Amino acid sequence: MLSKEIREKFLKFFESKGHTIVPSSSLLPTDPSVLFTTAGMQQFKPYYTGAADASKDFGSLSTVSIQKSMRTSDIDEVGDLTHLTFFEMLGNFSFGGYWKKEAIEYAHEFVTKEMGLKIDYVSVFGGDSDVPADEESEQIWKSIDSSLIVKKFGRGDNFWGPTGNEGPCGPTTEIYVNGVEIWNVVFNQYFQHPDKKLEPLKIQGIDTGMGLERLAAVAQNKNNIFETDLFEPLIQILPEDEIPDRTHRIISDHSRAAAFLICDGVTPSNKDQGYVLRRLMRRVIVQCHVNGIELEAIYDIFEKIVELYGKHYPELDFGKMKTAFIAENDKFQKTFKNGLKEMEKLSSIDGTSAFKLYESFGLPFEVIQEVGKEKASGLTREAFEEERKRHQEISRAGAEKKFGGHGIVIKEGELSAENQEELKKKTRLHTATHIVVAALEKVLGEKLIQAGSDINTERLRFDFKFSRKVTPEELKQAEKIANEVVEKDLPVSWEEVATDEAFSAGASGAFRHKYGDRVKVYTIGDKNNWFSKEICGGPHVTHSGEVGHITITKEESVSGGNRRIRATVD
Ligand code: ALA
Repeated sequence: MLSKEIREKFLKFFESKGHTIVPSSSLLPTDPSVLFTTAGMQQFKPYYTGAADASKDFGSLSTVSIQKSMRTSDIDEVGDLTHLTFFEMLGNFSFGGYWKKEAIEYAHEFVTKEMGLKIDYVSVFGGDSDVPADEESEQIWKSIDSSLIVKKFGRGDNFWGPTGNEGPCGPTTEIYVNGVEIWNVVFNQYFQHPDKKLEPLKIQGIDTGMGLERLAAVAQNKNNIFETDLFEPLIQILPEDEIPDRTHRIISDHSRAAAFLICDGVTPSNKDQGYVLRRLMRRVIVQCHVNGIELEAIYDIFEKIVELYGKHYPELDFGKMKTAFIAENDKFQKTFKNGLKEMEKLSSIDGTSAFKLYESFGLPFEVIQEVGKEKASGLTREAFEEERKRHQEISRAGAEKKFGGHGIVIKEGELSAENQEELKKKTRLHTATHIVVAALEKVLGEKLIQAGSDINTERLRFDFKFSRKVTPEELKQAEKIANEVVEKDLPVSWEEVATDEAFSAGASGAFRHKYGDRVKVYTIGDKNNWFSKEICGGPHVTHSGEVGHITITKEESVSGGNRRIRATVD
């Protein structure tokens, strides 16, 4: 069964059960607490809470959709047999219409009758201290097929949601075919608040999600998603000889994701969705470079994507994809060349230095290994992965989460925030503080003695010892230098060194007497030609471009002969 037949079958089936077909919403959600649309229910969030009325908007309390979705937490894992970034999610929804019995019956009928598949087993929520076991669903399954195996799992497996900070969520029942989970049927019974408290929803809702790629693999009897008709025609465009399967998978997944993002209006940048698009495109470009694949092949893939998906997603536009790709390729060549230059300077490359090249210049493991040749002969993927994991753990350990009376407080390094969104903004302002301090030092011609700093979601603020007013001209000049640094998109890196070593390398640090033996030093710019070096607990952005445009908004005198500067980022 072709995937386009599966799409049609799914929509028709639920239409016949009284569902209104709703087109996919954009990959860019209106909900600001999430970067991308990650599930079909996202566009329907207000209908579960009662904030919007489904019968008014859709003429029915039930809808069905095929939703473009993006999940990016595993971006570096793409290349294996199972991970994807972009995927299509088939889903049926009900907002106070039908409930568990119908939802389970529909799912069973679609899988077994329409698709002709055999269910291995299903799972239901086993219960915990907050939410009781879902015995009702178990009984419904048994009444449909008394021989069916019903497994019971906990929160991690059989409870879904919410997307973002808060929202509808609830226990699930999941269907397994050929050893894989294909369908997640969520019973939205609760609304989860930012402090994780569950409140029963007034309207009980159904939210289901079935990945088209996985369903196609099962229906087409393929070993994995890349062998289905959703990927096979894209992979066929790439040269076969001596190109690792991993490359085929990365290029086909990332080109597809990039194509859809571009046509939903994302442009590559150093922030948020644009940054994800940039990473995807650059990974494609690098893979092409390493494997000697002409960029023409990517344009052919784009053309194929329009041919395969265009009917269902009319926004797909070959011209837009190609133009965006060419522009990004032109931009990337410079960073790429700088990364290669940096690599030339190294006498040998191990996991740690390879990971640094990846972090600062976007050079992936394969490129480092390929271009590094003898220098990289001792480099293994394990060592690189180990370094990446170590780095992730350091960041995670820093993000100690506390649940207080007034919502979630995330503490990371020197910053604390109510949520991830706020933490991201404050992180940009934090790096902006380093940039403005260093820019002022350049203009005033002396090292500033800092006397405290404060960051909230609106602005940065810092005090420093200085005996006179900083003139408006000096401020303008500092602002100009600061924005040049942003424009240059310099790498921001850190290392842990002996405290004396940090000072002798020229790092700034306000609390010399307070530091222990070793400190973390953040550097903006090239190691040998840096713009700013400060002892600091972080966190910071990884490239200065992520900070955004800096505006110095105020300069004033405060007590103790100190001056105070405020600035914002856009
Ligand atoms: N919203 C549910 C999911 O994404 C169906 O798995």
